[in-house]
Amino acid sequence: MKEIYTALYPNEQVATNVGDYSFSHSTKLPKHITDHHAWGVETQERSNYMISPLQAQFQVWLAKAVGAKRVLEIGTFIGFSTMGWSEAVSTNGHVTALEFSPEYAQIAEEAFAKNSITNIEVIVGDARESIKKLSTTIPQPYDLIFIDADKTSYPTYLSQILEYSPPNSTSVRLLRQGGIIVADNILRRGLVADPSDANPQAAKERERTWRADDMDALHKFNDMMVESARLETFLMPMFDGLGCGRLVD
Ligand SMILES: C[S@@+](CC[C@H](N)C(=O)[O-])C[C@H]1O[C@@H](n2cnc3c(N)ncnc32)[C@H](O)[C@@H]1O
Repeated sequence: MKEIYTALYPNEQVATNVGDYSFSHSTKLPKHITDHHAWGVETQERSNYMISPLQAQFQVWLAKAVGAKRVLEIGTFIGFSTMGWSEAVSTNGHVTALEFSPEYAQIAEEAFAKNSITNIEVIVGDARESIKKLSTTIPQPYDLIFIDADKTSYPTYLSQILEYSPPNSTSVRLLRQGGIIVADNILRRGLVADPSDANPQAAKERERTWRADDMDALHKFNDMMVESARLETFLMPMFDGLGCGRLVD
C-alpha cells in the first residue's frame, strides 16, 4: 500500500471495530433519528438504502460546520438522512426532500409528523423534473445539496446544479456560491476504482447489484466533479465513497 493511502483497515474485523469506535466517539444523533433508523432496519426490505448512522453523524456535523440553513436532498427513501439534515439546519432552517416513490415519501412524511418535524418539504416525482421546477421557484439558494438517488442520473443532477447556479446571476440560483455538494455511493464498494477480480467485492456485487450503466454514470460523475473548473472537489474514500464538492463561483 502506498504511504499516501489510509492504512486503517487491513481486514473486515478492524474496519468494523474502527467504525464502532468512530461511532461512539462522534457526537450522538438525537434518539428519534437513531430510532427511525432502527425501525427502518426492522421493517423495510430495502433498509440498506439508508446511509449508516455513522455517515449521518458526519453529515449533520458537516452541515453544521458550514452553517447550512437550506438543504436539498435528492433521494429520500423513508427519511432517515433527511432527519439528519433537518436536525443540522435547526427549526428555522429548511430541507427540501425529493423522492420518486409515493410509498416511501408517505412513510417519510409520517415519520416527520410523528416526531413533530416541520422544516422538511417532501416533493414526490422524478428528481430531474423537481430540480428544474425548484430552480425557478425557490426563494433562496440551497447551502448544501445531497445526491443519493438513482446512480445513472448522477451526471444529470450535477449538470443541473451547475446550470441552475450560474455565476454572477441576479436571479435566485439553485446552489449558492461556496455551497456544498455531497454525493453518496460514488465508489460502489470500491468497484468504481477497482473492478478487477482482485477486489473481493467484485464477484459478490456482480451477482447482486452490478449494473454497467451505474458504473459508467459514476465514472462520469466523478470525472465531472474533478474536471469542472467551477468546483473544488474531495473524493472521500469513506462509507461507500462520498463525493464532496464546493461550488467556487
Ligand atoms: C439510496 S435511497 C436514499 C436513502 C436516503 N438518502 C437515506 O440515506 O436515508 C435512494 C432513493 O432515491 C429514490 N429515487 C430513485 N430514482 C429517483 C429519481 N429519479 N427521482 C427521485 N427519487 C429517486 C429511490 O426511490 C430511493 O428511495
